Amino acid sequence: MSESNIIIQENGHVLTVTINRPNQLNALNRETILELHEALKSANQDENIGVVILTGSGEKAFVAGADIKEFANFKPSEGQELSAWGHEILFNYIEAMDKPVIAAINGFALGGGLELAMASHIRVASDNARMGLPEVSLGVIPGYGGTQRLTQLVGKGKAFEMIATAGMINADEALQWGLVNHVTTPEELIALAEKIAAKILKNSPNAIGAAIRAVNANFKDGLNGYDKEIEEFGRCFGTPEFVEGTTAFMEKRKAEFRK
Ligand code: CAA
Repeated sequence: MSESNIIIQENGHVLTVTINRPNQLNALNRETILELHEALKSANQDENIGVVILTGSGEKAFVAGADIKEFANFKPSEGQELSAWGHEILFNYIEAMDKPVIAAINGFALGGGLELAMASHIRVASDNARMGLPEVSLGVIPGYGGTQRLTQLVGKGKAFEMIATAGMINADEALQWGLVNHVTTPEELIALAEKIAAKILKNSPNAIGAAIRAVNANFKDGLNGYDKEIEEFGRCFGTPEFVEGTTAFMEKRKAEFRK
């Protein structure tokens, strides 16, 4: 498997993964999805990594969607298989990671690209970004979690309008809708993501993982989010990081969770 569809850069405790198919506006073909999975899985297992930043190469696109050329001739069973595989290997995987993933949206985030950003825990956008789920214009619907995560993030009315019109919104509208947390210039985008990462890195990695699991539980069928919170809250008490965090507070010093 070639590694050429993504660029991986490690800087301290931050791993930046850049999707690197600029000539195809970073469209997600199967190979790229597999490479992303491998990179994220190893980041999740690597104690040194505390935050992952996901972005796209080039000035035009974060990711312009799933690779349309790859699925244009698919039969229904192949479409279903692609969607289920993508959910499992990348989109649900990111959401359930123990460490936060920040999507730095540097241009078009369409279809699978917006779905990738929405599976991430935090989204920041450059002021030239444009976002949408244009799948119905291709005769299909969002297949990498878009119908569910857009609805969770912006509510049913706005989600249905975006999906049914296949329209795009700009970064300021996305900020108003709550689809992204911050908007900045293209030049400042990665610096902003890194600034958020630096704040996260001051805190307990174990507690951050627990918070991700508790928040996610609110959106999972058959799970009670309050029960999950109680379980995760209790589990934190048994950790050295809890001892360090509370001791540091008593001793009026900053907690040191990372070497
Ligand atoms: N899949 C495959 N190739 C893509 C692509 C995609 N999603 N998006 C862009 N490209 C390719 C184009 O085909 C073109 O390649 P060639 O030069 O080889 O022809 C190259 O990227 C540059 O794109 P354009 O020439 O179209 O650039 P533009 O500036 O004129 O338009 C755009 C930009 C509006 C983003 C346009 O490219 C576009 O509409 N792209 C498709 C967006 C889309 O429909 N995304 C949803 C995909 S379906 C999906 O994601 C399903 C799912 O949920 C799982």
